[in-house]
Amino acid sequence: MIMKILPALLVFLLVTLVSAIQASDDALTHQIHLPRPQTGSRGSHVPGISCLSWRLGVETHNIIDWETVPAACEGYVGHYMLGHQYRKDSKAVTYEAYLYAKSLNLTKDDKNLWIFDIDETSLSNLPYYVHHGFGVEAYDSTTFGAWVLEGTAPALPESLKLYKKLLTLGVKVAFITGRGESQRSVTETNLKKVGYHTWVKLVLKDSSYSGKTAVVYKSSERKKLEENGYRIIGNIGDQWSDLLGTNVGNRSFKMPDPMYYIS
Ligand SMILES: *[C@@H]1O[C@H](CO)[C@@H](O)[C@H](O)[C@H]1NC(C)=O
Ligand SMILES: *[C@@H]1O[C@H](CO)[C@@H](O)[C@H](O)[C@H]1NC(C)=O
Ligand SMILES: [Mg+2]
Repeated sequence: MIMKILPALLVFLLVTLVSAIQASDDALTHQIHLPRPQTGSRGSHVPGISCLSWRLGVETHNIIDWETVPAACEGYVGHYMLGHQYRKDSKAVTYEAYLYAKSLNLTKDDKNLWIFDIDETSLSNLPYYVHHGFGVEAYDSTTFGAWVLEGTAPALPESLKLYKKLLTLGVKVAFITGRGESQRSVTETNLKKVGYHTWVKLVLKDSSYSGKTAVVYKSSERKKLEENGYRIIGNIGDQWSDLLGTNVGNRSFKMPDPMYYIS
């Protein structure tokens, strides 16, 4: 019995080791070191609920309006974001989006539009979160603003790939972001630097939306695009507030993000 299991076990260990080495080599996370040791997937703000269940609840929008990652899941979320699973989950989403777009018999009139969110969808802020942690003290508007102004956020590789494939299918792209108008030029430069070279519109949140939720702001901007004759065939974002509301388009694709919640 043992002799039968042993070779399989060795192969498993080898694969695990190779995977771990590849993870540390990752292009997106090359300047990223792992956070504090993993505390395991048990424990969250709800006694008896595992961090994996918490993450599933977040992704499915069963758990809403949360302010921070539960303290007991901070290590779990850090390891998820920096490891293979986040990238695999991202790929599963963008690949499905691509298959859908490819299956459409699109009119070649430059009116088929795909909406991309920016943060944690087109661009990744992982280098920021690696320095600031994934838990309660992770986000701070001053230091995050300074990070955005550096204009050095890497592309999320899976989203960039989807973007390029959509363009080859003749689909137009618009970005709608919660970033403010004052961040327009650095955002344009950052997008172009990492490979997003063209778009029909880059919508940033202007002062008329101050105090409004992302759902209200993004719905209203999608409506304007439709009024300009665009057909929103797809929409992709890491927050449910990117995807809910009105004028949501034919299909929505939710990118993974267990780091923060925006309503
Ligand atoms: C695709 O659309 C064109 C024009 O609307 C139509 O003539 C053609 O039959 C469609 N092809 C398929 C495979 O649905
Ligand atoms: C998108 O939805 C509209 C409204 O339901 C429909 O008329 C249109 O055919 C759909 N387009 C695609 C590409 O599925
Ligand atoms: Mg986002």
